[in-house]
Amino acid sequence: MTTQRKTIIAGNWKMNKTPKEARELASAVVESVKTKTDLPEIVLCPAFVALHDVLEVAKGTPVNVGAQHMDYRDEGAFTGEISPVMLTSMGVTHVIIGHSERRQFFGETNATVNLRLKAALKHKLIPIVCVGESLDEREEGLTDAVVRRQVAAALIDIDEESTKTLVFAYEPVWAIGTGKTCEAAEANRVCLLIRGVVNEFYSRAEGGHKGAKSTAGDHVPILYGGSVKASNVDEQLALPDIDGSLVGGASLNAGEFQSIIVAGAKRQTTMASKLTRSGT
Ligand code: PGA
Repeated sequence: MTTQRKTIIAGNWKMNKTPKEARELASAVVESVKTKTDLPEIVLCPAFVALHDVLEVAKGTPVNVGAQHMDYRDEGAFTGEISPVMLTSMGVTHVIIGHSERRQFFGETNATVNLRLKAALKHKLIPIVCVGESLDEREEGLTDAVVRRQVAAALIDIDEESTKTLVFAYEPVWAIGTGKTCEAAEANRVCLLIRGVVNEFYSRAEGGHKGAKSTAGDHVPILYGGSVKASNVDEQLALPDIDGSLVGGASLNAGEFQSIIVAGAKRQTTMASKLTRSGT
């Protein structure tokens, strides 16, 4: 059965662009989509200091603004941190959680990803939770085990209803910023695995009560990220379980990012017409 899931194209600008540069890049993205219809959900994730500028530019346009990270507490003595309350008060709607660079360089763990995910949901931010294996893990044949563990750990104590706003991103660490893209078929396989883990997670949780089989995962958009470019995105988005792209390097170039948005729009239209044909 074909399930309706939104297509999402998100740009993770990482630690790039001053507020002035971010404003210029956001303006170029907004300009490129302004006359278009049937757009995918578009999200720009600039650095914290550029959120204000990008929000101003994006206001009243189809472009959403997300943060790249956040603390899980509402306020307090946590020098250097930014809280979900601060983000929502500005108009930020999305937040990336557990990006591999946070896991690798800033001590992010599966447990803190879970705390951040709960905080995001509590504050009605749309979380984009990143999972993915390292090169060593892939070479040792541990991809599925690592991804399964990351997904299941992220979901601890999250009720099934909340998965309606949840987004996952499969980002194999070895493909990030390296120019090495995961083959589209393999990326699709792992995205499907993630969907299955979500279904299993809630089937188990439900099992104790009603023995019902959950289909929560069928409704969760799962993005692929890792060296996504205009030249490889069509192939990825043609596959059934890759619902969009989390784009790093290529999102810093307005023209490249525009082409990726166009690919997202194409996927969205194709999916909608499949649904119409299947009558679901
Ligand atoms: P990349 O980064 O597109 O530069 O590989 C993706 C990401 O880290 O989200």
